[in-house]
Amino acid sequence: MVELKTETSLDAMREAGRVVARALAAVRAAAAVGVSLLELDTVARGVLRDAGAASPFLGYHPSFAPTPYPATLCVSVNDAIVHGIPDGYRLRDGDLVSADFGAILDGWVGDSAISFTVGAARPEDTLLIETAERALAAGIAAAVPGNRIGDIAHAVGTVCRAAGYGIPDGFGGHGVGRSMHEDPSVPNEGRPGRGMPLRPGMALAIEPMLIASGADGYHPAPDGWTLVTDDGSRAAHAEHTVAITERGPRVLTAL
Ligand code: MF3
Ligand code: CO
Repeated sequence: MVELKTETSLDAMREAGRVVARALAAVRAAAAVGVSLLELDTVARGVLRDAGAASPFLGYHPSFAPTPYPATLCVSVNDAIVHGIPDGYRLRDGDLVSADFGAILDGWVGDSAISFTVGAARPEDTLLIETAERALAAGIAAAVPGNRIGDIAHAVGTVCRAAGYGIPDGFGGHGVGRSMHEDPSVPNEGRPGRGMPLRPGMALAIEPMLIASGADGYHPAPDGWTLVTDDGSRAAHAEHTVAITERGPRVLTAL
C-alpha cells in the first residue's frame, strides 16, 4: 500500500530530512585519518539528540539481518557497499566512505546517504562518487507525476551502466513516510514506462549503489549486516528522500 502524503505532511518530512542532512554534513566534516567509525556514529547521534529526533536505524531488525541494527549510522568503507556497522576501525588515508543516516521527527522519517573520501583521494574513487551523485540526480529528475517507478530505475541504472559500474541487485530505494521502508520499492535498474505510476504525495528514497569493477556480485560480511563486493572492488552510495509534487521533485533531505 502506498500512502500519499499531504503538503503539510511533506513539510513535516522536510524537517526530519533537514536533521538527516545536518547529521551527514557533521559526519563528513568529522571524518579524517585516524577518526574511528564509532566516533562518527557519536557525531551523528549528537545531531539527533540536539534536534529532539530519534533514529529509525537503531534497533531496526529486517528479516535479512541476524540482529537488530546496533547504531544510528551506517558507515561502509571501501569494498563495503551499504549497512556497515560502526566499529573501532580508524579511517586511513585514501579510504572511500559511504555514510547512510535516518531521523524520525514528529513521527516522520528522513533517509539519506553520501559518499566521500578521506585524505588523499584516488581519482577513480572521485569518479565513482561523482557518478553515484549523477545517477541519484537522474533518478530525482525522473521523479515526476506521469512517470512510473521504472522511469526512475531506468534513469539511475543507465548512468551507472554507461560509466561501466556494477549494480548490486536485491537492494535499492523504497517508499518513506511514517516508516523508513514503505511501498513501493525503487530498484536501481529497470525498464522505462513500467511499474507503479508516480503520483503527487509519494515520498521515495532513491539510492544508487555502484561497484567500481563493473561486477554486480556481493555478499554479507560475517556480521550479517555489511554488504561487501565479491571482488573486493570499491563501492559508492548516494541517497535522498524525494517527494513527487505537481511542481516537480522536492528533495526532502537537502540542508
Ligand atoms: N538507509 C538504509 C536503507 O535505505 C537503511 C539502513 S539499514 C539500518 O535501506 F538497519 F541501518 F537501518
Ligand atoms: Co534508504
